[in-house]
Amino acid sequence: MLAPASASIPSVNASATPAQLRRFFYAAYCDTPTPFRLLGALRPYVCPFDKLLQFVRDGAEVLDVGCGAGSFLTLLAATKKIRRGVGCDVMAAPLQSARAAAARLGAQGILSFEHVGSVAEAPEGPFDIVAMVDVLHHVPPGNRSDVFSAAAKRVRPGGIFLYKDMTARPGGRRLAHNIDDYIFTREWVEQVPEGAVETWAGDHRLALVHDEFIPRLIYGHELRVFQRPEH
Ligand SMILES: C[S@@+](CC[C@H](N)C(=O)[O-])C[C@H]1O[C@@H](n2cnc3c(N)ncnc32)[C@H](O)[C@@H]1O
Repeated sequence: MLAPASASIPSVNASATPAQLRRFFYAAYCDTPTPFRLLGALRPYVCPFDKLLQFVRDGAEVLDVGCGAGSFLTLLAATKKIRRGVGCDVMAAPLQSARAAAARLGAQGILSFEHVGSVAEAPEGPFDIVAMVDVLHHVPPGNRSDVFSAAAKRVRPGGIFLYKDMTARPGGRRLAHNIDDYIFTREWVEQVPEGAVETWAGDHRLALVHDEFIPRLIYGHELRVFQRPEH
């Protein structure tokens, strides 16, 4: 049984500001250890959740690959956009935070979180939406196409593959991400080269329907939305 929450969880909708999302995440993740709770609450200032939300149709079933602490799915559940959300990750600890936040929201019946050895072990679906947010730059370059492929196979006909990662474009925004990740993970990451995901998506008959570079603060994001044809 969870201890009482320190504060009630503010409601949010799809047009919530970063400040409203900060308050939402801070309250929903009250069971998460303080440094991670703070970082998660500040993430809406950096991560374009607002853009991601636009591509999730109401009532969708969503698989979030590499969900971490489940921020995207908890937000989707809180905004009442989805019928079901499944998160999977190779790390167990963040999933505990995700489950606790889902329970705080009363969304245990909608959200589930699975610890997997690889994406190939994730539920097969198929899903209306498969999301992959800031995952691939943590995957060794030689394994990225396999991870992408395992996720892509889980998109149903007519469904969406929602991909967002940090920019690989040379310059200050890429450097800011490298320094940021180095501080928090001691890893000097190699961003996903431009054009790579488009090639892998093409191999899986996923058509690019939206392509956007999103600058936020000192960071840069690459958003790609792919759709599987109905037939
Ligand atoms: C920067 S975090 C992003 C978490 C979450 N997607 C979000 O945006 O809040 C990267 C996540 O990818 C996960 N990850 C790394 N390699 C993975 C793999 N091969 N399969 C699934 N998840 C992976 C990590 O464990 C971590 O939770």
